[in-house]
Amino acid sequence: MSFGDSKAIISNQDDINENLTDIVTKHLTTEFKKPISAHTQQAFDEVNALVQAFTGPVILDSCCGVGQSTRIIAKQNPDALVIGVDKSDNRISRNVEDQWQVENYHLVRADLNDFYRLVVQANWPVEKHFILYPNPWPKAKHVKRRWHGSAVFPYIIQVGKTIELRSNWRMYLQEFQAALALAKIDSQLTELPEGEPLTPFEAKYQASGQQCWTLTAKVL
Ligand SMILES: C[S@@+](CC[C@H](N)C(=O)[O-])C[C@H]1O[C@@H](n2cnc3c(N)ncnc32)[C@H](O)[C@@H]1O
Repeated sequence: MSFGDSKAIISNQDDINENLTDIVTKHLTTEFKKPISAHTQQAFDEVNALVQAFTGPVILDSCCGVGQSTRIIAKQNPDALVIGVDKSDNRISRNVEDQWQVENYHLVRADLNDFYRLVVQANWPVEKHFILYPNPWPKAKHVKRRWHGSAVFPYIIQVGKTIELRSNWRMYLQEFQAALALAKIDSQLTELPEGEPLTPFEAKYQASGQQCWTLTAKVL
């Protein structure tokens, strides 16, 4: 696929999902009991050793794909340790032309549904948490697969002092904003100004003329 033909999101939802309030409220008031998978526990234990030995700020780049944003953020924050997490082995181990020449980052293959809970339990000193271009799951019936509709949402909002999400589907961020409001967290939703793309998906959307959006919040 060429970069210029990325399609805008098509959804059968033209407003915030009608079940969102019930779903988020349930997750905010019940315990998430699903056991942690062995592979994510092992991946976490390895990276946790690095984080515990590190004395500076930690930045978490969730759903990092090939880790381009992880490297760019590491370059922009030389004093920080930047941890990129993605569940796709194929993406995370892909060779990316290393034009950034940084070493203060680490990529981990893990399922964030489990990883987030371990991060909260271990009390990582996360300064900033990025979720850049999460899978949109645009069909209304898949709302629980979006991060704000997932059972791990109460943990997501305990990670980091600030959170930033980006998407080319404004509705995703409007829903995340509504879910944050249910947890009494204020956030700002704005157009992303055009600039050097942080990720391959951002580059693809910019090249096809799609507006991208950013949602930021102080969570702690
Ligand atoms: C649309 S891609 C965006 C990748 C990258 N942030 C970018 O903008 O180029 C979404 C990414 O989220 C990852 N992902 C989805 N669910 C995940 C989960 N439960 N745990 C970890 N990564 C996940 C996918 O593997 C995929 O790489």
